[in-house]
Amino acid sequence: MALLPIVYYGDRILRKAGKRIDPTDLKESASIKKLAHDMIETMRENNGIGLAAQQVNRLERIIMIDVSSFDENAEPFALINPEIVKVGKEKVVIQEGCLSFPDLYLDIERPALVTVAALDIEGNPMTLEADGILARALQHEIDHMKGTLFIDYIHPLKRKFLLKKWQVSSNARKKSDG
Ligand code: NI
Repeated sequence: MALLPIVYYGDRILRKAGKRIDPTDLKESASIKKLAHDMIETMRENNGIGLAAQQVNRLERIIMIDVSSFDENAEPFALINPEIVKVGKEKVVIQEGCLSFPDLYLDIERPALVTVAALDIEGNPMTLEADGILARALQHEIDHMKGTLFIDYIHPLKRKFLLKKWQVSSNARKKSDG
C-alpha cells in the first residue's frame, strides 16, 4: 500500500467528471483494488471521512467513505460508480470539510436521507440507504465524481470572500511550515 499525495483546490482535476469503471476490470484486474487500498490508507492518514479519486489525481469513479470517528462499528469502504438514486424531502445543515481545502469548514444544506446505487469493490451491485453523517459524506464524495465541490453550494459573493480568506491563511501556513 502507498500513501497518495492529496490534490488541493486550484488543481483542474477537481473540476473534471470521473470515468465509469468497467465491472469486468474490477474482477479481472487488481489495479482498482490497489487504488482503493491506497485511497483508504491516504484517507485515514489525513483523518478524512471520505475521499474521491480526483483528490488523488485519478479519474476513475471511485470513492472511499469512513465514518468510524462517528460510529465505532463502521468500517471504511469503497464504492465504485456511485450514484444517488433517491433523496429525501427533509434537508439539514451540517458543517463539511474537504481534504482538498485544508482547514475550511462550511455549513452546507443537503437532503438528510439518500439512497445510493453502486458496485462494491468486488464488482457486485449494491444499494445503500443512509442518513446522518454517512448520507452527508456520500453526497459530498459523489459530487466530487462530477467535479462539483462543497464551495459550489455557497452564495457566489460569500464564496469569493471565504476562498480569499482561506487562500491567505493557507499561504501563511505554507510559509510557517518552511
Ligand atoms: Ni471533498
